[in-house]
Amino acid sequence: MHCLDTPFELIRLEETDSTSSHLRMLCETDDMKEFTVVTADYQTAGRGQRGNSWEAEKGKNLLFSLLLVPDFLQANRQFILSQIIALGIKEELDRYADGFSIKWPNDIYWKERKICGMLIENDLTGQSISRCIAGIGININQTVFHSPAPNPVSLAQITGKEHDRHLVLRNILQRIRQYYKEVQERKSTDIPARYYEALFRKNTFAGYRDKSGRFIAKIVRIEPSGLLILQREDGTEHAYAFKEISYEL
Ligand code: BTN
Repeated sequence: MHCLDTPFELIRLEETDSTSSHLRMLCETDDMKEFTVVTADYQTAGRGQRGNSWEAEKGKNLLFSLLLVPDFLQANRQFILSQIIALGIKEELDRYADGFSIKWPNDIYWKERKICGMLIENDLTGQSISRCIAGIGININQTVFHSPAPNPVSLAQITGKEHDRHLVLRNILQRIRQYYKEVQERKSTDIPARYYEALFRKNTFAGYRDKSGRFIAKIVRIEPSGLLILQREDGTEHAYAFKEISYEL
């Protein structure tokens, strides 16, 4: 176990099935501290959204899972966790290049290509969130992609040079922690506004697909619950939960 000069407990593994599964297993056998982070150079069974797998070349990218214990948050506010994690990552990436955005609910894109995906797993106890395991994959130094994932891109491809993965990780964790403190201290916050400002395809009509087929719409707002509100060309508004809609890329 190595500690960075941050309040994070960093557990660095060469290989594991999935950093999120590993962290969950640790939580079940031990009393883990909030802000424990598990990173791995390689995952044999990396998990993505919608039951997909997450592939990453050994030693090239950031694969990590962060433990939060946001028991001060009501279950109906869980989307704020997605917002602060996505913002922390996007704002760190902004230091390296222009063109990053957050694709609702929590992918990070560079132009029309995906650089980062996350899988946020919240455990609820009664009305509160007793545990959040945020699993994050960011393409840093990989330059050849084989998986069928749509349009992957890495930071190295964008900037034309390799980056120190662990430096990027440390900065991201500090940013997330800062936002988390803001939420914890219940300060009035501009997090939802910053999130909206950072959105992919904000203010533009584009193609989407729901269970009835393809349509054109634009994002008009995101509800605090995380629902995406789209306005169609006829002016009608429609609300979508994650998995009820996909973007046409
Ligand atoms: C997505 O499908 O976009 C989400 C991908 C999440 C991948 C990360 S990699 C680290 C962590 N461990 C996993 O098994 N999945 C997440």
